[in-house]
Amino acid sequence: MQRRLSLIPQPQHLVDAGGELDLATLGAIVAVDSETTGLAWLLSDLLARGTGLRLAVQSDFEGPAVRIRLEGPRPEDLTCESEAYRLRIDADGVDLVAAHPAGIARGLATFRQLLPADALRAAPAAPAIVPCVAIDDVPRLRWRGVHIDIARHFQPKEFVLAMIDRAWLHRLNVVHLHLTDDQGWRMEIPSRPKLAEIASWRSETVVGHALDTETFDGTPHGGHYTLADLREIVAYASERHVMVIPEINLPGHTRAVLAAYPELGTGHGKPVATTFGVFEEVLEPTEESLAFARDVFDVVVQVFDAPFVHIGGDEVPTVQWESSPVAAELMKREGIADVRGVQTWFTRAFTEYVTSLDRRVIGWDEILDGGAPTEAVVSVWRNEAYVKKAVEAGHEVIVAPEPYVYFDHYEGESPDEPLCIHGLTTVEKVAAWEPVPAGVDPDSVLGAQCQLWSEYMPDARDVEYRAFPRLAVFADVLWAAPETREAAPVLERLEGHLPRLEALGIEYRPLEGPEPWQTGGTGARKRFDRPFQEHQAE
Ligand code: ACM
Repeated sequence: MQRRLSLIPQPQHLVDAGGELDLATLGAIVAVDSETTGLAWLLSDLLARGTGLRLAVQSDFEGPAVRIRLEGPRPEDLTCESEAYRLRIDADGVDLVAAHPAGIARGLATFRQLLPADALRAAPAAPAIVPCVAIDDVPRLRWRGVHIDIARHFQPKEFVLAMIDRAWLHRLNVVHLHLTDDQGWRMEIPSRPKLAEIASWRSETVVGHALDTETFDGTPHGGHYTLADLREIVAYASERHVMVIPEINLPGHTRAVLAAYPELGTGHGKPVATTFGVFEEVLEPTEESLAFARDVFDVVVQVFDAPFVHIGGDEVPTVQWESSPVAAELMKREGIADVRGVQTWFTRAFTEYVTSLDRRVIGWDEILDGGAPTEAVVSVWRNEAYVKKAVEAGHEVIVAPEPYVYFDHYEGESPDEPLCIHGLTTVEKVAAWEPVPAGVDPDSVLGAQCQLWSEYMPDARDVEYRAFPRLAVFADVLWAAPETREAAPVLERLEGHLPRLEALGIEYRPLEGPEPWQTGGTGARKRFDRPFQEHQAE
């Protein structure tokens, strides 16, 4: 009988040669090129931890080994070719070859899945045995991301590290950190100390759905990452060839900023938000606001090494600007006819500054509304129709549409499902999703991203319930070509993948629905439904 390998994502070409290799029969891990020594030690560490087998890393070794080699001309970063790899496992050993270290990192992720699931545990729990296979693999899309919202609910650094490791295991290559929002600012900025002192926490949080209740829990919530924490996060991701994209969300979603520095707004500072929704408070379009942003971006680029900085730009109400003498003066001075153009003024200034720091800007699709500089990458969230709009306006896009890949939406129809914002996004819906909309030039699509907005995910356990197993299915959609996925449907591989999640201690949602302790019950996590209104493109 054919054994089930249940790899997720499915490699593009996989031949199961039959038989197994006991890694204990090998003498070393050979990193032929010094650039892959770190990855080789990562493999050594993982094997030691999960199986107890200790293989040292050497630059050469005669005899059976895990051999890691770079071969051929080096592709550019963030290309599909840079993540391609060839993996051969036979009775004589393991051969992992790629043209770029990122390809080696992806090959190691697949290798981790070929080990027994229990080898993913934190102490030796499985033999170091892998099936003999021949794999030739390359991703379909260049940008395969997961967004984590640690602004609405803060999570400890360890959870971010764990999510990076899980992204790596699923051959995702981007973790987008949503670092700032109305309910909290999560990054230390030494020149703006009140962000850590005031903006990083709120006095309490609404209980249940914000549209359903006006009860608050009376419990302060907050936290922030120091620069040392963020450097550690970036370094941890970088070892795995995962990019961490920082998002500093301006000029809207700024209640926390304005609680700390009210002079950047209308001056009538309100406390850090304790409930969820879209608030009218925005930055005033002043030189002081731009100076604030510049101070923040200066620190961001010292800490994050990714070539992109996300500037947010979503859901920016114009109501305050409509009555602001400062905005009126700006509009007169700059010849801005429509108040929407005030956001465009911010977008242009941020883009110019971030570009001067040698980074590329990404913004949510609202930056298109008043016309954005074409060098800005657009993360399209409202509706796939905006993908077309963005591409027609000359932008590269990251496809992240709310109806399909917002994993804060309900996963099933049962009244037992715990509290969500709205919507219904089942694993079947994710599996059937096509990330490149028809009629769009695929070259303009950098890739896609799933979102874990955390208004209604207070704890890491809640995030895990929402993220898994949808994230695994999502990773399969982005990595494997449609023909590959058709030949080996992901929903047939999912069951066999769940023991890996279990071994990692991930409290995923079982395919048949929540465990009793994961249900919403009748208290604060009780299901609340309101119709999900899909945004229509203008
Ligand atoms: C968003 O969901 N407001 C990007």
